[in-house]
Amino acid sequence: MKTLNVGIVGCGNISGIYLQNIPAYRGLALRACADMKPEVAQAQASRYGLEALSVDELLAREDIDLVVNLTIPSAHFGVSLAALSAGKHVFSEKPLAIDFEQGRKLVDEAEARGLLLGCAPDTFLGAGGRLARNLIDEGAVGRILSGSATLMSHGMEHWHPDPEFFFKPGGGPILDMAPYYLSALVNLLGPVQRVFAMSSIGFPERIVTSDSPRKGQRITVETPTSVMALLEFASGAQVTFCMSWDVWKHGHPAIELYGTEGSLRVPDPNFFGGHVEVTERGGDWQAKDSGNMPLGAPNWRSPNWAPDLPSRANYRALGLADLASAALNGTPHRSTGRLALHVLEVMHSILESAATGRPMAITTMLERPAILSDEEAAGLWQGPPHAATAA
Ligand SMILES: NC(=O)c1ccc[n+]([C@@H]2O[C@H](COP(=O)([O-])OP(=O)(O)OC[C@H]3O[C@@H](n4cnc5c(N)ncnc54)[C@H](O)[C@@H]3O)[C@@H](O)[C@H]2O)c1
Repeated sequence: MKTLNVGIVGCGNISGIYLQNIPAYRGLALRACADMKPEVAQAQASRYGLEALSVDELLAREDIDLVVNLTIPSAHFGVSLAALSAGKHVFSEKPLAIDFEQGRKLVDEAEARGLLLGCAPDTFLGAGGRLARNLIDEGAVGRILSGSATLMSHGMEHWHPDPEFFFKPGGGPILDMAPYYLSALVNLLGPVQRVFAMSSIGFPERIVTSDSPRKGQRITVETPTSVMALLEFASGAQVTFCMSWDVWKHGHPAIELYGTEGSLRVPDPNFFGGHVEVTERGGDWQAKDSGNMPLGAPNWRSPNWAPDLPSRANYRALGLADLASAALNGTPHRSTGRLALHVLEVMHSILESAATGRPMAITTMLERPAILSDEEAAGLWQGPPHAATAA
């Protein structure tokens, strides 16, 4: 078996980039897709030349080896558990589950069955994340003492057609956005061992301004939209962690780390490329572009972006290719369910600490993911099918 046959469950917004990128990776063969709305599955199946099935049909198919769960967060647990129970490897969009115990059950179930469970985000395996990891591991800025991670914007109601769920329990900037920042930090620094947090709701009501049938409707905000946390890593590093949808404008970089020999700026962990900036002690920032590294070149832009915004590197499905290589060739598996479970525990602990005013100890310890070398990354990517044919 040289490839894993892939079935997608959940054919909404994010499915397009997976369907586009999966054929560009080695070890993966797209076979079928399913959605609780058959017409949605049919539309993507027709667009990408796949078979549209019901979820039950897809899980019953013996020729599907890997189920990619792109459903909404509240459906992640049920779909992933059903897929594991059907003997499939699973890769889930983030978060692994809404509830920590459900996340743990998925990890246990996969391990008991000898199956691989992977989870987004896989962005930390992109060129920008690899460059930052290499610099830290080479000692370019010494031992990391402290740092900051920041996501600040004014929320989702100006672009998302149906943004209500973002402002209800289970939504908010922690569960929605923190997985990118936490996965990047754990990849660089190792596990988090303790958190302390405060939170607030900056705007008790939101008005939908996106061009959609909900335009003008009011949403009552029922979950914190600004969360300020302190993360203590097992390494001893302390990182301020601010995730907010209550900020119009700010000047903070996505992630900045302060070491004994210098400082380092990690590129935006929502993407796969970008510049790493580094200093020698108090010297000037030196930019190191990851654009020439494998899986670093800008290749994508959002239809929601203004024309003056640059394209970014979007190689989603890298985590699937990493999982497939682990299953087929015995290479290390990196964006694992165990990493996602740790991230899930940290997110819930941040929210609980903010609600109770108490620091929270983290119980799920783990090693940093194995380094993905540039050669290995290049080996996973064969390029879009037409490029491969031309080569
Ligand atoms: N949209 C983005 O830009 C984006 C970016 C990164 C990650 N994600 C993540 O991807 C996931 C999906 O997000 P989305 O924006 O594509 O959502 P979406 O609502 O556009 O699509 C989800 C799809 O899943 C289907 N679905 C829901 N429950 C199901 C079930 N039980 N069985 C089968 N199908 C089911 C829905 O019918 C829908 O078509 C989420 O976990 C989200 O956090 C989204």
